[in-house]
Amino acid sequence: MVEIRLFRAGDSAAVSDVIVRCLQEVNSRDYSEAIIARMSAHFSAERIEQLAEERQMFVAVDKGAVVGTVSRDGNKVFTMFVQPRMIGHGVGRRLMQHIEALAVENGYDYMETGASITAHGFYQRLGYVDVRTSETEFGFNYVLRKPLDSTQA
Ligand SMILES: CC(C)(COP(=O)(O)OP(=O)(O)OC[C@H]1O[C@@H](n2cnc3c(N)ncnc32)[C@H](O)[C@@H]1OP(=O)(O)O)[C@@H](O)C(=O)NCCC(=O)NCCS
Repeated sequence: MVEIRLFRAGDSAAVSDVIVRCLQEVNSRDYSEAIIARMSAHFSAERIEQLAEERQMFVAVDKGAVVGTVSRDGNKVFTMFVQPRMIGHGVGRRLMQHIEALAVENGYDYMETGASITAHGFYQRLGYVDVRTSETEFGFNYVLRKPLDSTQA
């Protein structure tokens, strides 16, 4: 049973490992080697510790091991990654439902995310709709939004 909990000091190496594995094994289908290398270097354990102070970061834990992560700043979604061997088992949906419920509690009526080419279909499946596209130092991205239903809080 996968548990969703807040990031704790001591999780940073495991979170970095999930992200880097994802980038190298999954996102590498859609992005160049140079972009994957730049992103992998960016998401070091030290950087994760910094990000966890700037945003509210969550981890999905299975049998004591971190198998996914997502962060939010209000109604904005960041760093959604699921351990490659756990992809397709509902972990991503659970993480998104968790932060969407918190955003509803905080009074937001929509959620916004930046999506890799790799994750675009996932967000669409969850009800997100394209708003625009952007080109960043980490390559092509979509920006999507989803209306939040306050009755589901
Ligand atoms: C995108 C990602 C987070 C999805 O996590 P996941 O745990 O595999 O997703 P879930 O199993 O919860 O999937 C929820 C639904 O979305 C669908 N889905 C998942 N990924 C999809 C994709 N790439 N395209 C279309 N549908 C997708 C699932 O089939 C499922 O649909 P269902 O309701 O019919 O069962 C994960 O694949 C991942 O980490 N990818 C690489 C990293 C990445 O790109 N992260 C985002 C950075 S912006």
